[in-house]
Amino acid sequence: AEHKPWDGRFAEKTDDMVEAFTSSIQVDKRLYAHDITGSIAHARTLAEAGVIDSDEADAMEKGLRQVKGEIEAGNFKYDDSLEDIHMHIESRLTEILGPTAAKLHTGRSRNDQIALDNRLYLRDETRQIVAMLHELRQAIVDSAQAHLDYFVPGYTHLQRAQPVLLSHHLMAYYEMFTRDSDRFTDALYRINVMPLGSAALAGTTFPLDREYTASLLGFEGVTQNSMDAVSDRDFIMEFLSDASICMVHLSRMSEELVLWSSSEFAFLNMPDAFATGSSIMPQKKNPDVPELVRGKTGRVVGSLMAILTTMKSLPMAYNRDMQEDKPPLFDAVDTLKACVAMFARMVPKLEFNRRNMFDASNQGFLNATDMADYLVEKGVPFREAHGIVGRAVAYALDRGRELHEISLNDLRKFSDKLEKDLYEALTVEHVVERRRTIGGTASVNVIAAIGRAQTQLQAE
Ligand code: ARG
Repeated sequence: AEHKPWDGRFAEKTDDMVEAFTSSIQVDKRLYAHDITGSIAHARTLAEAGVIDSDEADAMEKGLRQVKGEIEAGNFKYDDSLEDIHMHIESRLTEILGPTAAKLHTGRSRNDQIALDNRLYLRDETRQIVAMLHELRQAIVDSAQAHLDYFVPGYTHLQRAQPVLLSHHLMAYYEMFTRDSDRFTDALYRINVMPLGSAALAGTTFPLDREYTASLLGFEGVTQNSMDAVSDRDFIMEFLSDASICMVHLSRMSEELVLWSSSEFAFLNMPDAFATGSSIMPQKKNPDVPELVRGKTGRVVGSLMAILTTMKSLPMAYNRDMQEDKPPLFDAVDTLKACVAMFARMVPKLEFNRRNMFDASNQGFLNATDMADYLVEKGVPFREAHGIVGRAVAYALDRGRELHEISLNDLRKFSDKLEKDLYEALTVEHVVERRRTIGGTASVNVIAAIGRAQTQLQAE
């Protein structure tokens, strides 16, 4: 463009390289719809305040809608000399409307404008993410419901520890994704606040009814300090923190799916439609989807670090550094949404290997705690019982046997409190069913947890 909206005091033309360096249009053009929505509300607020006529506001709205149509039809010209989406839209509106367009930016700065656009954008995306997490949580609960008769070893230190219901294991992820969803919902309280009227940093001389603007745009309230409003990005930091935690949960689940689909575990068959092959090794079927989700976690955590580092030590109020908020924010939003959607699609298709999971649950002394608990019920103090069972485990290990494969006669060498009913207590089913404390793996608890989750999901 020959003239820039701000070049009145400039005698020299902007250096070409500076123009390209400072331009953000290729990134922030994705905010066009929110920018236009915000401008229409600003025009209405100007008319309400008597700063412009309502005819002028109508013309602005009509013109802005035309610009939106042009952008969506793909015949809009982007040009680095117009820096960002705000100036692109205003400049095109000027071509359409002439002098009336020149009144739109009254009482407004790009500083409060970008704060508004960021908030409108993130409000939409956060609501979408909560809806997508709902799908994923539903898929997890449905899978838990469908696999209630599957036992799987529970691990600590990646060593077999105690058997659990596969459904209990799956429902642990339901809890994580539910907290993630709650965190995003909570973040909306701080995202959904209206900054327009703060202008450059100090507020504006025009009597703008900020509450009116907020009501037009569906905001819960208005920001209370103009300097904070134009330089606050903590709603983005908070969103990216929440996104990072959610990605960490997806990554943990991914890691388990990768492990479980290995020949070493063989608990899971990744359906062909969700796996890929090797260009050299004909036998290979790789779990690339969970691997990529695990890998993309690094990008989202990186985006959080990027915005924290950018904001650190910035003096008030607006600084151009803050233009760098958008690449990490957009990338994190796209990445998180892709991963949650991918998981929601994949979870219902996971094929668990019931036999292998059961066999693994029945091997490796996962019932040793239960033998100790049995002795406690016969009056042996727990620490003593622990020692007795430890010696029995060593004895069984020497013989390549499980505890439940040793005869009662041999076991009684370790304690005469052991009776025939021990063997029932050592079965996988008993070990699971006896854990009835709130949150424990007994099927009565797991069925109730699934029921509560189904009710909760339906109510949301
Ligand atoms: N493109 C800028 C951003 O993304 C908009 C605000 C620019 N304000 C300014 N005075 N240069 O942050």
